[in-house]
Amino acid sequence: MLEVHHVTKHYASRPILRDVSLALAKGERVALLGPSGCGKTTLLNCIGGIDRVDSGRIELAGADLATLTSDGLSLVRRRQIGTIFQFFHLLPTLTAEENIEMPLQLTGMAKAERLERVRALMQRVGIAHRSGALPAQLSGGEMQRVAIARAVIHRPMLILADEPTGNLDSATGAQILDLLREVTEEEGTALLMVTHSDEAARACHRVLRMLDGVLL
Ligand SMILES: Nc1ncnc2c1ncn2[C@@H]1O[C@H](COP(=O)(O)OP(=O)(O)O)[C@@H](O)[C@H]1O
Ligand SMILES: [Mg+2]
Repeated sequence: MLEVHHVTKHYASRPILRDVSLALAKGERVALLGPSGCGKTTLLNCIGGIDRVDSGRIELAGADLATLTSDGLSLVRRRQIGTIFQFFHLLPTLTAEENIEMPLQLTGMAKAERLERVRALMQRVGIAHRSGALPAQLSGGEMQRVAIARAVIHRPMLILADEPTGNLDSATGAQILDLLREVTEEEGTALLMVTHSDEAARACHRVLRMLDGVLL
């Protein structure tokens, strides 16, 4: 469902991604490891359509991202991709429930159906009792549960996670990994996860290593 073919990317004239190729099958979980600055986030940004590649091709469910207009790209991003970050990136003025509902509001789904789906998922990820809380009132683990729910609420085919346990203590991180594994399995969602942790890599089917913009 995801194919990356010979992608290169520069910032100024500095090469950041060099001839990167990879593929992910439906429901496959892949860990991306590599030292700080080697290009992991840049690769996720290119796959997520936040950044454009200089050469090479990225196809998501058969659609070549380079051929899409910026509107087309945001549509693919909103429908097919969920993202999870190290520092959660929840909207601070919205409650947990409203943060999770957000991706559905962009789909035009009726309010009653949205709420039903949001509430079922909040139960599933163990934060139903925190539905009215603002992000600042939540613990790190709770924030990441909200972020996971927000990433899967619209049933995307791919989740891009950038060090999702990087800001959590190891016990909480392990719970979040279990949850991520279970939820992606239940939903048949593929996962590409940047991580520094061996434990996170063990939650995946496959590990990719990157060094200086090259996939080893
Ligand atoms: N917007 C940008 N403009 C210029 N250089 C950037 C930009 N984003 C990242 N870089 C540089 O690209 C390299 C790879 O960054 P990044 O993909 O964030 O690495 P990683 O996620 O593996 O730590 C780094 O040297 C970083 O400084
Ligand atoms: Mg990074």
